Amino acid sequence: MSDAPAQNLSTPIEPDDSYTALANEIVDIFYKIYGTHAGFRVNHAKGIVAQGSFVASSEAATLSRAALFDGSSIPFTVRFSNDGGFPAIPDGAPGNIKGMAIKFHMHDGSEVDIPMLAVKTFPMPTGEGFRDLLMAISNSPDSAAKPTALDEFAASNPTVPASFNTAGTPDSFAHEEYRGLNAFIFVNKAGHRQAVRYITTPEKIVYLDADEAARKPLDFLIDDLPQRVAKEPVVFHLRAQIAESGDQTKDPSQSWPDDRRVVDLGVLTVSKVLVDSHAVQKNLLFLPTNLTDGIELSDDRMPLIRSAVYGVAFARRSD
Ligand code: HEM
Repeated sequence: MSDAPAQNLSTPIEPDDSYTALANEIVDIFYKIYGTHAGFRVNHAKGIVAQGSFVASSEAATLSRAALFDGSSIPFTVRFSNDGGFPAIPDGAPGNIKGMAIKFHMHDGSEVDIPMLAVKTFPMPTGEGFRDLLMAISNSPDSAAKPTALDEFAASNPTVPASFNTAGTPDSFAHEEYRGLNAFIFVNKAGHRQAVRYITTPEKIVYLDADEAARKPLDFLIDDLPQRVAKEPVVFHLRAQIAESGDQTKDPSQSWPDDRRVVDLGVLTVSKVLVDSHAVQKNLLFLPTNLTDGIELSDDRMPLIRSAVYGVAFARRSD
């Protein structure tokens, strides 16, 4: 890590709308890969919405002055999902990356969003790189001759297989670990700035092997969650991996060393699954730039690009 650029703890980048063209280009490619499924997301189309509350640990407040970490009970909406734009994808589809997007409903009426994925790293370092990966996927239909454009892209971009190989099929959305991947900056009451990455950890992680996953019913994860939560609340710990001096903050395709300290930020308790999940999720929009005082962007531009993409996708989904 010695030659890595130092983490950026200076003035954060402010959101702007300069990514609209790239965002439209990316959403177009999603439509090309998956086709149009009116009312569904172009990515993470299949999902389920639940509600719960978060209570921060006392250590969280030492890292960030955010009201999110004031120790009060903060309600949240959460959406668990399969990746890809097919609303009927089997929950056990090999290599499918699970998502967990949390929207905290702050006491002042504002929202703080943390959308996470169940992989250890993102497949590409930048939004433009991810656009190129999507293009390779779109140019590699099942009928394509081998090696496909995607095979070639993955061979020349080792971060792609490195990321995809960390995706597993959990036996429940409640038994998966989800990561924020992009680095953010926590600012505490004294003004101290600390780069972090979110990790949301369940009480236990359980993966199915490929044969077990293939034998599971189409919607086994979507069906599991309401039954599980009806019996008892599902608990996760929101945690923060703490960067050390020299750890880069702008490339989510590179993990930080495993020995970096991980701080428990508090407990997420999922207590209710919404019966009208389908209607609710259509109007839900998670934006990684929905932050609050005490949590800032780092020098990673991907959250800005993601918010532009999600906004465009939302507008076109609602068409
Ligand atoms: C430039 C990189 C990325 C692009 C272009 C991208 C693209 C998208 C798109 C188009 C959607 C559908 C949005 C909607 O229709 O509401 C989506 C959803 C989602 N993305 Fe990303 N994504 C990127 C990076 C990431 C990263 C780094 C994470 C987390 C670590 C992530 C997690 C999610 C999750 C959890 C959802 C589902 C949100 C929901 O349930 O509504 N994405 N992404």
